[in-house]
Amino acid sequence: MTEPSASPVDLVVLGGGSGGYAAALRAAELGMTVVMVEKDKVGGTCLHRGCIPTKALLHSAETVEVIKESSQFGVNGTFESVDMGGVNKYKDKVVEGLYKGLTGLVKSRKIEVVQGSGRLVSPTAVEVEGRTIEARHVLLATGSVPRSIPGLEIDHARVVNSDDALGMDTIPGSVVILGAGAIGCEFASVWRSFGAEVTIVEALPHLVPLEEESSSKLLERAFRKRGIKQELGARFERVEHTDDGVRVHLEGGKQLEADLLLVAIGRGPVSKDLGYEEVGVEMQRGFVMVDAYCSTNIPTISAVGDLIPTLQLAHVGFGEGILVAERLAGLAVTPIDYDGVPRVTYSSPEVASVGLTRAAAEQRGYEVVEATYDLAGNGKARILGTAGAVKVLASKDGPVIGVHMVGERVGELIAEAQLITNWEALPGEVAQLIHPHPTMSEAVGEAHLALAGKPLHSHS
Ligand code: NAI
Repeated sequence: MTEPSASPVDLVVLGGGSGGYAAALRAAELGMTVVMVEKDKVGGTCLHRGCIPTKALLHSAETVEVIKESSQFGVNGTFESVDMGGVNKYKDKVVEGLYKGLTGLVKSRKIEVVQGSGRLVSPTAVEVEGRTIEARHVLLATGSVPRSIPGLEIDHARVVNSDDALGMDTIPGSVVILGAGAIGCEFASVWRSFGAEVTIVEALPHLVPLEEESSSKLLERAFRKRGIKQELGARFERVEHTDDGVRVHLEGGKQLEADLLLVAIGRGPVSKDLGYEEVGVEMQRGFVMVDAYCSTNIPTISAVGDLIPTLQLAHVGFGEGILVAERLAGLAVTPIDYDGVPRVTYSSPEVASVGLTRAAAEQRGYEVVEATYDLAGNGKARILGTAGAVKVLASKDGPVIGVHMVGERVGELIAEAQLITNWEALPGEVAQLIHPHPTMSEAVGEAHLALAGKPLHSHS
């Protein structure tokens, strides 16, 4: 039997990942009473199975490369081996530290966290572990899980998803990765640095196919140099288990043998059997549908994060969560401009972008002008030994509409590019700004100098 709770709280949040906890924190800050229901750990995919642990793995991978390439910098180091126990210990310690901090923060804002699997039971109530939590508003933030395709069964041993890959305590000798989005490219990068033979299979013609084509091509070249094999425009047909691994069949007859197949073909929303349909929440393909203010068709119910069909990125979840909390608290809010959200794939090299690709801009009717600055001309990039480029797109005689970069550490440069595109700066205005020398950020300045018709260290 369920016990009704005393009086309704202002907000009950179902799911304590990036979207859910951001909303809870901001709502509490604005004076609302908040209950957050979480079946696993507050922090969700990003903190426990996504952004944070994968970036720790990528840092271990970078450390391998630094040691292997040390003689290039006149330092004689010898690479011995990767100790996966040690790598996982470091990764888990990073996650644990952040988790402790987050739980402390949630507690300090007086948010009640209810442990358990919750279910929407009415437009104003969530049921969990026999308790009904009544609230003035409900926020659905149940996130996403790795998906597969019909007939491709994840056995979590030889055919794995990103959750499995994060928990591995050995390095595969060889691996086929299905899908060249962020997850596929980041794991390809890690495993290659750790010594595995890696082949990426991608149905579309390029790695990171949603990025500017020139960025994809630069990543493809860098990955080829690193010995990461690529089957592009290749369609997966089936996988069979062999005595010691897998044999992946591609359409057209090609076969690839490996110890392991990582399936990284996207993530699907977690929305089944949670009461959403029964309560009448509008859904499509499992996603909860929302308006520009993350409000569903039921006025008391909002939804954020990977559960709704916007960019599946932790920082988008944060933004959507904050927007919902502020709207519910009665503040004036502005819809998120999703084109203005920065995107980073943290492989080696990194790929970062914000704004429109050339193809998308032309489709929207822009007359596009562009300039590309090759990192070969940048002092700091030379010092670090990284190749890549910064490409800036602007509308003719108008503002910057897209910035696309490839190179080590360019993920850190995208914040400036984000301000430029979102504040609709003109190339000439950015060209006025002096960038610190020698930094990678000068490449951003140089690309704008070139676009403003006054290139300094680049050929026009
Ligand atoms: P994704 O949707 O970004 O990429 C999946 C890729 O698999 C696509 O390029 C698609 O064309 C390809 N594909 C699909 N079916 C295929 C088939 N049958 N054969 C061959 N290729 C096939 O999904 P991903 O990489 O799994 O990531 C899931 C979500 O998590 C994405 O939204 C991603 O942006 C996000 N994420 C973001 C990260 C970041 O910001 N650094 C890191 C990891 C994930």
